[in-house]
Amino acid sequence: MDLQLAGKVALITGSSRGIGLATAKALAAEGCRLMLSARSAEPLAAAAAALRTSGVDVAAHPADVSKPEEAAGLVQAAVTAFGGIDVLINNVGGGGGARIADSTDDDWRSALERNLIQTVRMMRRYGRNAGYPTSPVQTRTCSFPASGSSVALASAQGQTLFARARREVGSSHSGPTCPG
Ligand SMILES: NC(=O)c1ccc[n+]([C@@H]2O[C@H](COP(=O)([O-])OP(=O)(O)OC[C@H]3O[C@@H](n4cnc5c(N)ncnc54)[C@H](OP(=O)(O)O)[C@@H]3O)[C@@H](O)[C@H]2O)c1
Repeated sequence: MDLQLAGKVALITGSSRGIGLATAKALAAEGCRLMLSARSAEPLAAAAAALRTSGVDVAAHPADVSKPEEAAGLVQAAVTAFGGIDVLINNVGGGGGARIADSTDDDWRSALERNLIQTVRMMRRYGRNAGYPTSPVQTRTCSFPASGSSVALASAQGQTLFARARREVGSSHSGPTCPG
């Protein structure tokens, strides 16, 4: 498939394994240059090294995107390594949490931080550094728990709707990807 992404710089959060790494490989197959990131440095470096041996132009920067200063450092690292960012994949997030009757305000704050606020933060940083180029992609691998946690579902839905904020970010390719 040619998604017209050859040469574009893609920053993928949570890309040392799982869906984030699979997304990185798919973008590499499209000819993207990659900035990988995750909290643990060692598996992150191993993932980057494996891609590099296949000829992919890849950099890696360890960061916890739940921490504002580390999220900012990640965006800056991508700009320093590649001169800018064209594609932002907000893959970090997660389900879990209590059911409504058992949940506390802290459960809701924590789910909103994990699924919505860190995405908003990355998007703000990305927008400031990228100046909202004409064709950025911003997406999120969102969770749709079939049962159990309304806390996780509501926070992921907020993130999904935020990813549709195409007009404000000047993107025709902003949206959610929902694998589950
Ligand atoms: N698996 C599914 O069936 C499924 C279905 C629907 C949606 N999703 C969503 O898709 C996303 C990825 O799922 P997955 O199954 O691929 O997860 P995974 O295999 O557990 O991988 C998560 C990745 O994110 C990194 N990470 C976690 N927290 C982070 C943080 N605060 N800051 C930076 N990096 C962080 C992890 O590395 P470190 O631990 O080293 O940081 C790892 O690279 C999640 O948002 C999940 O909710 C998954």
